[in-house]
Amino acid sequence: MMGGPQYDKKSYKISTSVAMTEGRLPETRDRFSILLIDDDHATLGLIREMLSPFKADLEFYEASSAEEALNLMQAVRPSFVFLDLMMPGVERFELLDRLIRIDPFAEIALLTGNYSMDAAVEAIKRGASDYLTKPVTAVRLRQRVEKWLSLARTQEQALALDSISTEGDDFEGMIGRSPLMLDLYSRINRIAPHFSNALVIGDTGTGKELVARALHRLGAGPDAPFVVCNCAAVTETLFESSLFGHFRGSFTGAVSNHKGMIEAAAGGTLFLDEIGEVPPGSQAKLLRFLQSREIQPLGSSQSRKVVVRVVAATNRPLEDMVAERTFREDLYYRLASVALQLPRLCERREDIPLLALHFLSVCARKYGLPPLRLTRRTQAFLLRYHWPGNVRELESALSYAVMMCGSEPIDLIDLPDALRRAAAENAGVEPEVQPLEVQTRRYVMEVLARFNGNRSRAAEVLEIGRTTLYRILKRGP
Ligand SMILES: Nc1ncnc2c1ncn2[C@@H]1O[C@H](COP(=O)(O)OP(=O)(O)OP(=O)(O)O)[C@@H](O)[C@H]1O
Ligand SMILES: [Mg+2]
Repeated sequence: MMGGPQYDKKSYKISTSVAMTEGRLPETRDRFSILLIDDDHATLGLIREMLSPFKADLEFYEASSAEEALNLMQAVRPSFVFLDLMMPGVERFELLDRLIRIDPFAEIALLTGNYSMDAAVEAIKRGASDYLTKPVTAVRLRQRVEKWLSLARTQEQALALDSISTEGDDFEGMIGRSPLMLDLYSRINRIAPHFSNALVIGDTGTGKELVARALHRLGAGPDAPFVVCNCAAVTETLFESSLFGHFRGSFTGAVSNHKGMIEAAAGGTLFLDEIGEVPPGSQAKLLRFLQSREIQPLGSSQSRKVVVRVVAATNRPLEDMVAERTFREDLYYRLASVALQLPRLCERREDIPLLALHFLSVCARKYGLPPLRLTRRTQAFLLRYHWPGNVRELESALSYAVMMCGSEPIDLIDLPDALRRAAAENAGVEPEVQPLEVQTRRYVMEVLARFNGNRSRAAEVLEIGRTTLYRILKRGP
């Protein structure tokens, strides 16, 4: 058995306070343990050799039998495992299953001599996080470990953040502390007391309605009315009467007086959701109201002033619609004078763990369950998935998982089908292609490390001039 002192997983300290004040993520522990399992000693040696660039990051443990592997898994609780699929004395996935049972949070990659897509999918379903074909190349192995390390560190940072989070640590119901969100909160704070029209732009599920409500509470106040008009649901003929109201008899079917949404929102906020869907004929009328702040109900000869704040939201590119002449330019500029753009979830991945914890605890409370946890590979997957449906998709995936999971912790298998498929595909795909420049720099760094930072020697071996070497290194990570 190799490796330094064993550590207790929960005993490492994470310093948070100083780092947080500088707006950086807190430090995390810098070493993780890895267990290599193969009945062939030569393969074990080879893998260790290939992973030697990670000596400073990893504590290595090796097992050449199933029994030894299980004992080490119990004793060390390694974060990462490379497991040979064919171990003597055990059925195909038996050892994998037993290792997972000991620690469902470990990242386990299988190594196998003969790749089959079915077996890969089966392994992932059972909880493996990757499936690599032998002979595995150093590049592939290192990429895998590098990914694990970076995910593990991000997760620990997130957990560290969580440990300093307290109840009510949200902004008007919004969760997230990424720089993009902090910037958004500060803009909302500054805008809220002063705006009369605001435009919230963002993809579906990014939280536009939450922002509109925040602008309302911090602007008009929580007791003032907040009226939602879903512009996509109102037909052109009804748009005017819905917004401005009508008098009895003003058109066929107008059997009584009707107060429009603008009047209902008086003193508060009118939320025009999906503003891009306002019928072309109604856009001019809306613009006239935004300019004059006066309404004239259908069938009335008099107009009257209404004090109301207007927040519009859209997930469509209004600028393009202006160019295509489907959205009035003057209306666009009137609304966009105060514009807030919401980031997509994949642009603020560092918030995913916090959001996940938030949704899990909301679900747990709703169903009267104890606190729920996610396996490490599920956390890892949530972090790297691209989330086309943004926060709403994450929220519904987790509430589905909470309902589906037979027992805690929640695992990949508990996620909705589409996500499970994505997780399996993700693990089965070849490593991402990286720009040549990045690879070149990485290789030069490797060679440099091998010669203890001696640049002349590295340049000589690489058969390039020292100036070229400096230039490559200077290009940044
Ligand atoms: N930052 C956040 N923190 C917590 N919950 C969020 C956050 N952003 C969005 N949500 C939740 O995600 C769901 C979708 O949010 P919301 O309805 O505001 O999205 P939207 O941008 O209006 O989407 P759409 O364009 O599809 O209407 C809601 O349940 C909301 O509570
Ligand atoms: Mg919405």
